[in-house]
Amino acid sequence: MRVWIFDTTLRDGEQCPGATMTHHEKMALAMQLEKLRVDVIEAGFPVASEDDFKAVKEIADSSTYSTIAGLARATDRDVDRAWEAIRGAKKPRIHTFMSSSDVHLKYQFKKTRSEALEMARAAVKRASDCCDDVEFSPMDATRSDPAFLYSMISAAIEEGATVINIPDTVGYSTPGEFGALIRNIRKRVEAIDSVVISTHCHNDLGLAVANSLAGVLEGARQVECTINGIGERAGNASLEEIVMALKTRSTVYGAHTGVNTREIFNTSKMVSEFTGFTVQPNKAIVGRNAFAHESGIHQHGVLANKKTYEIMDPEMIGKSSELVIGKHSGRHAIADTLASIGFKLSETQLGDATAMVKSLADKKKQIGRDDLIAIANSVLGRLPDEKRRLRLVSIKVRTGSAGGASADVRLSLDSKETAAHGEGVGPVDAVANAVKKAIGQRVTLKEYNLKAITGGTNALANVVITVQDRKGRLYTCEALNEDVIMASANALVDSIDKSLRGSG
Ligand code: KIV
Ligand code: ZN
Repeated sequence: MRVWIFDTTLRDGEQCPGATMTHHEKMALAMQLEKLRVDVIEAGFPVASEDDFKAVKEIADSSTYSTIAGLARATDRDVDRAWEAIRGAKKPRIHTFMSSSDVHLKYQFKKTRSEALEMARAAVKRASDCCDDVEFSPMDATRSDPAFLYSMISAAIEEGATVINIPDTVGYSTPGEFGALIRNIRKRVEAIDSVVISTHCHNDLGLAVANSLAGVLEGARQVECTINGIGERAGNASLEEIVMALKTRSTVYGAHTGVNTREIFNTSKMVSEFTGFTVQPNKAIVGRNAFAHESGIHQHGVLANKKTYEIMDPEMIGKSSELVIGKHSGRHAIADTLASIGFKLSETQLGDATAMVKSLADKKKQIGRDDLIAIANSVLGRLPDEKRRLRLVSIKVRTGSAGGASADVRLSLDSKETAAHGEGVGPVDAVANAVKKAIGQRVTLKEYNLKAITGGTNALANVVITVQDRKGRLYTCEALNEDVIMASANALVDSIDKSLRGSG
């Protein structure tokens, strides 16, 4: 039995605070999701803004494999705008939703049940008049009166819905309850067999994956999920966990997906780089330690036979053994190695990546796979200078054992050079103060995260910075450098540049 994978990283994932992606990043991720062979890409919420509309339209127009869904509330304007954005897709889908729970209807929508039912009906009808593939979601389904939920689902099917999605919007359900809800919907809703039942579970209690899989056991044929489980609050069900659970325990679930699992690791890295949301080391499937064996007993077992402590082969998710790239590797070898991990770079990007590899190889004997992925992602995520508003020209830092530090930075803002001096408790603080002074305090620094991609004093430093603009919007960027001060300065300048372009 085939289960459809509906990826909503670009919609439910991207809409959570701090996960904003640039237009270029959205396009690159959509291409990667097609390569991952997800069945449906929810590309965004077209009515939300001009930028969202443009991104969804461009993804739809260039899609070749996946169905492209656009989200719409149950209003004419939303449905029309969604259709306008996705109509150029090879396989378009309108996804419309209306709350079915009393708590949402009373406090959020200020509608009666019968008004909500009519809105759902009208939206599905309008969507089906434009598009053959229409998904309807009764929002907050798991906290709704079941009888009213069934009548809303029936109305949507009558008006032409082809997919009925059951959201656990606030992540309140448990696997037993969620499975029973799908079972009862299949029992109580007439004509339910003519549509695909889908799950959409949030992770507030850490049960999103378990609930989705309980839905599959009861006959759901589509699972909505995101890469690395990113999404509102505690996130959505994680795509990699769903796909690998279905694959590894196929005898339990009797289901398979069309996902090319060898692209999972690259996709996870890309989402983490683009959003700045780092993956916890012990995260199932894609965490750094997911396939690492530290204890002597485990190492002994794995050396004797991998099956002792490994239930999945890391190669299945595209995490192969260490690659050997070093100082003497040429542009072709770097291009081939990057292509084997799934990165296709333009000539200019390849030039930048080669320069970064050479510079790192001067300080470090061997470049590992993680270094290469980080370099490729950094090159892919970097905007060309002419598209930026803010750019770092030069930096000079003084620090010492007496405490305190000072920095002189020179920046290019809207093609004009500006310079400032800053003092701080340490070099990173001094750089941040100098940069803020040079551009006139337009943002506040909300988060600073430093991680070393690889061990050792010559590791690549990876810095993730989130800044907040005056309207409260958050922008996150990540930068990579062998020098921690340079990585910090670049991540700061990149996130301020993102905020300047975001706010026009
Ligand atoms: O969580 C939710 O209910 C949603 C709907 C729009 C499907 O994201
Ligand atoms: Zn959601």
